[in-house]
Amino acid sequence: MKGIILAGGTGTRLYPITEGISKQLMPIYDKPMIFYPLSTLMSAGIRDILIITTPQDQESFTRLLKDGSHFGVRISYAVQESPRGLADAFIVGEDFIGNDSCCMILGDNIFYGDKFSKKLKEAFKNAEEGFATIFGYQVKDPERFGIMELDSDRNVLSLEEKPLKPKSKFAVTGLYFYPKGVSEYAKKVEPSKRGEIEITTLNDMYLQNKNLKAEILGEGFTWYDTGTFESEVDAILMIRSIQNNQDRVICCPEEIGYFNNWISKETLIERADLMSKNSYGQYLRKLLQEIAK
Ligand code: TTP
Repeated sequence: MKGIILAGGTGTRLYPITEGISKQLMPIYDKPMIFYPLSTLMSAGIRDILIITTPQDQESFTRLLKDGSHFGVRISYAVQESPRGLADAFIVGEDFIGNDSCCMILGDNIFYGDKFSKKLKEAFKNAEEGFATIFGYQVKDPERFGIMELDSDRNVLSLEEKPLKPKSKFAVTGLYFYPKGVSEYAKKVEPSKRGEIEITTLNDMYLQNKNLKAEILGEGFTWYDTGTFESEVDAILMIRSIQNNQDRVICCPEEIGYFNNWISKETLIERADLMSKNSYGQYLRKLLQEIAK
């Protein structure tokens, strides 16, 4: 399975901040936003990762994430010349995906909750068996999102992009798993009225073919799409509060890489030394002490 982080876009809702910096490089408490979706892919067991950025921001992402080996992953980069829509990720990433299944996550999406890696691994397995999986989350303002209508067994009945009269409050979050062949489907998506290659149209193709599963992220689960001032601050406060209460670092790629046996203890030590002046590095140091016990 391949992984894609879609981290382009214009970020106009965060202007003037994002006039000068990519949204997905902005801090969410103690780490750049993109560490969160990167950690989600790594928790799913995905090591081959493509990061799609705007042309002007690619250099900054490369400086931050390099080839990914310090996290135990293989990162490559591609440019999306203009924000043509979310399903464009599979066209830009066609060569990278090849004949593999693929998971795509939006660069501004934060997922946190119990048993999440189990859900990710199930979606991974579904994709290998020919099924796409999307993840639903109940929201208060469904008009702003792609919305899934569900039956009593939580099967998807319909999908609508930003409906005026939403049929449910379950938004489709920015995490999608597809079986092999997704690029061919994406190329069949006609641009919508707003001129975008919509992921909702792509997902609807899988729904019509009876190849779409939905997983609801329910009680106790947190999902943030950090594209506005309010949601960004909410996410920062939540991460700070959980980390302080639990005395840990959430979505720490070094930790996930180490416990997946993807990086050595020496690499973990190097990362801890690099950040020894702050709580992130001290957390890595503590992990090393626990490992030594
Ligand atoms: P959005 O939040 O819908 O768009 P945006 O980031 O451009 O922000 P704004 O609405 O404030 O102008 O995009 C969701 C994510 O997908 C975000 O991480 C940017 C990314 N994206 C792309 O990389 N390419 C695209 O063509 C689109 C539409 C989004």
